[in-house]
Amino acid sequence: MRLKSSAVITGVGGYVPDNILSNSDLEKMVETNSEWIVSRTGIRERRILTDKSLATSDMATWAIKDLLNNTKVSPDEIDCVIIATSTPDHLLLSTASIVCDKADLTHAWATDVNAACSGFLYAFTMGASLVEGGRYKKVIVVGADQNSAIINYKDRNTCILFGDGAGAVLIEPTTDDVGLIDSVFKTDGKGREHLYVPAGGSKCPATPESVADRKHFIQQDGRIVFKAAINGMTDTCTAILKRNDLDILDIDWLIPHQANYRIIHAVGDHLGLPAERVKVNIDRYGNTTAATIPLCLWDFKDDFKYNDNIILTAFGAGFSWGATYLKWGKLRTA
Ligand code: UT7
Repeated sequence: MRLKSSAVITGVGGYVPDNILSNSDLEKMVETNSEWIVSRTGIRERRILTDKSLATSDMATWAIKDLLNNTKVSPDEIDCVIIATSTPDHLLLSTASIVCDKADLTHAWATDVNAACSGFLYAFTMGASLVEGGRYKKVIVVGADQNSAIINYKDRNTCILFGDGAGAVLIEPTTDDVGLIDSVFKTDGKGREHLYVPAGGSKCPATPESVADRKHFIQQDGRIVFKAAINGMTDTCTAILKRNDLDILDIDWLIPHQANYRIIHAVGDHLGLPAERVKVNIDRYGNTTAATIPLCLWDFKDDFKYNDNIILTAFGAGFSWGATYLKWGKLRTA
């Protein structure tokens, strides 16, 4: 049954760095080969922010500037900015504060959300709730991660997977029968040690030993995360279909978190959705953590029609996962 819905995506923006890290580049860095990477993950290349003077806030800022340019909305019209990231510029100080300054969002209040790969999904529902509540008229939600800052490029289990990027959406009120309809989210902290960065937080502050032991990089038990991701995304998508009285073939597009093509394929298969309705761009960007879903919206926006039924789904560190059901509206155009 449809819940009250009055918050819709009216603009999309994105940014990926120019620098490409290809599978053949990785062959020179660790013992791997392009055929293994493509057949096991679907990834052919990723984008890397190489300029050391830049960080996550710069990518988020460029995604927002692209969004504002696409919609012709002025920066001072924005009420609120939520940045989903697990690679903030700094431990103390939200990346969203820095972005407000860099993107001239002079009237916005801003904060970060950290739910790793599920961050955009969670933040999108939070942002939509602010609009549905009637107090805010223009909310920007960004997913942005500079994964290259927390990747050990000597660890072939992780370095082949991740890339950098940022995607942004503008959320506004609507009286039409479109927009965000429902979300099913789950969090299970028992999964925390299967995918995390062990040091750098309050539990294990930086020391010469933590640096020498490479504890400031992502560590992942890939097989466990792989299975949990398929089950988690399939279960929450199934729950959202049931709760909204939908058949899978009512869904025009599934936009899954891009972590591994085999995970994406398995979720689509379990749900019974034809492969052509499942959006995939992992081949070009790899896993950009919180940015994968907004980068898909950015890449494929021309395919979506007014009133299309779309499910977004993600799984990530925490563990955190979920699915969001929305009806596509009308984008502001320049
Ligand atoms: O976004 C958050 C969620 N993250 C994910 O969803 C990632 C989930 N996990 C995965 O995507 C996959 O588990 C990986 C891509 C990380 C690994 O794929 P896999 O099919 O699970 O491989 P595996 O770990 O079972 O390893 C299979 C073999 C091993 O060799 P042996 O023991 O069979 O001889 C590995 O040592 O592949 C080997 N291997 C590699 N070979 C070449 C592992 N990494 C590589 C590599 N290149 N980069």
